[in-house]
Amino acid sequence: MKKIVVFYSFDGNTRLIAENIAKTVDADILELRLKEEIRSKGFIKYFWGAWAAIKKRTPELFPIEKDLQNYDLLLIGTPMWAGTYAPALNTFFSTLSVSNKKIALFCCHGGGRGKIFEEMRKALEGNQILGEIDFRDPLKRNKEKNIQRAKEWAKEMTKTV
Ligand SMILES: Cc1cc2nc3c(=O)[nH]c(=O)nc-3n(C[C@H](O)[C@H](O)[C@H](O)COP(=O)(O)O)c2cc1C
Repeated sequence: MKKIVVFYSFDGNTRLIAENIAKTVDADILELRLKEEIRSKGFIKYFWGAWAAIKKRTPELFPIEKDLQNYDLLLIGTPMWAGTYAPALNTFFSTLSVSNKKIALFCCHGGGRGKIFEEMRKALEGNQILGEIDFRDPLKRNKEKNIQRAKEWAKEMTKTV
């Protein structure tokens, strides 16, 4: 069974989780990278990022060099921006043409309870969502515990495939 972890990360939290998941279940990994990343620091980055997320912007990504049709399970991760997934995922979803795939969802957030998973499920209609898990700023809070949770969840997701 071929697995791939697909993720976007701005500050590294989602990357931490994505890398640990990939290592645990021996999955390939694909980081979505924006051609033009938000350059602002501090509060202004929240403003621009949140605006882009709310407006469902589709920023240009560097080319995706993996053929996702070749995978049986996609584990997709994103930070939460303005209660939803980051704009990089918008672009990814708009170009993704997979159906009947098994998919597991993960996200990192700062403590908010958005509709991120509902929205991701909607964007991925036609596929089978196996499960979802969220992490609160794992680089800053309970890092080892969160890594452990991520590993256990990843094993659980692959067990059912
Ligand atoms: C533009 C922007 C918007 C954000 N909006 C939210 C939010 O609505 N709710 C929340 O709990 N955290 C929010 N956060 C915090 C991030 O989701 C959180 O810090 C996450 O762990 C970052 O993941 P990353 O390091 O992979 O980028 C936001 C962060 C940014 C940069």
